[in-house]
Amino acid sequence: MDLGIKGKKVIVTAASKGIGYAIAKRFLEEGAKVIISSHDENNLVKAYNKLKEISNNVDYIKADLMNPQDVKALIHNGYEKLGGLDVLAYVTGSPKPGNIFSLSDKDWLDAFYLLLFSAVIAVREAGQLMSSGGRIILSTSITLRQPIDNLDLSNVVRLSLAGLIKVASRELGPKGILVNGIMPGWTRTERVDQIVKDRAMREGKKEEEVIKDIVKDVPLGRLGEPEEIANVAIFLASNLSTYINGVLIPVDGGAIRGVF
Ligand SMILES: NC(=O)c1ccc[n+]([C@@H]2O[C@H](COP(=O)([O-])OP(=O)(O)OC[C@H]3O[C@@H](n4cnc5c(N)ncnc54)[C@H](OP(=O)(O)O)[C@@H]3O)[C@@H](O)[C@H]2O)c1
Repeated sequence: MDLGIKGKKVIVTAASKGIGYAIAKRFLEEGAKVIISSHDENNLVKAYNKLKEISNNVDYIKADLMNPQDVKALIHNGYEKLGGLDVLAYVTGSPKPGNIFSLSDKDWLDAFYLLLFSAVIAVREAGQLMSSGGRIILSTSITLRQPIDNLDLSNVVRLSLAGLIKVASRELGPKGILVNGIMPGWTRTERVDQIVKDRAMREGKKEEEVIKDIVKDVPLGRLGEPEEIANVAIFLASNLSTYINGVLIPVDGGAIRGVF
């Protein structure tokens, strides 16, 4: 089935690893032209070389999402390199763990820049450049709907992404730009592997036991795979989702308990 992705011009942020990398890979597999971005050049080049084995339609631009100028330059340079922009798949790095007593003022401001302000700039700049419609997909977290203990920066700052998605869907909808979000649950990425390893060491447990503990509230009883998040990004960019705008889709194996 033709999903309408072939030849689309796509920028994927935080794409050297994990969820962002999986999204970039799926777009390439569907025949899109993809620019990947992240802030560590070594990781970025490694990812670029791996993705090149799938398709030559990939390029990279280094950008630190903490730096508003970098974000702006990424969208504009990506647009120039691709010769247009159809899809922005926006992922970020993770904020520091901690709670309201352990986190510093700087930690809160950093999270504001990383999670929210960078997204505002990326959406604004992409929205201006997408002259013949497009798709903006913001990957966030289930913490928008269900706080996770000791991830207060995510629990608090990420909520504003729900507002951004809603207002952008209203303000960009008339230009034919659809803006939606994904809320991944616990997903098996390098970052989660590290969290599991650290916790196993700290608690003197086997890694499998830690994973069992993490997924005890997930009805499907397992971690998600990055490809399972990427598939939803593909759906949201495809011609199967032409009337979906301003929503956030959980991809969490049923972990969110709330009905709404
Ligand atoms: N995995 C999960 O279970 C899960 C669940 C819900 C939400 N999330 C969220 O989804 C996002 C991706 O998570 P992940 O598990 O895929 O993480 P990951 O495997 O650690 O990958 C993180 C990516 O973010 C990039 N990055 C970090 N800081 C950056 C910055 N300042 N500027 C540009 N790029 C930056 C990293 O690139 P470089 O270091 O190479 O620059 C890397 O490509 C995070 O925001 C995470 O909180 C993850």
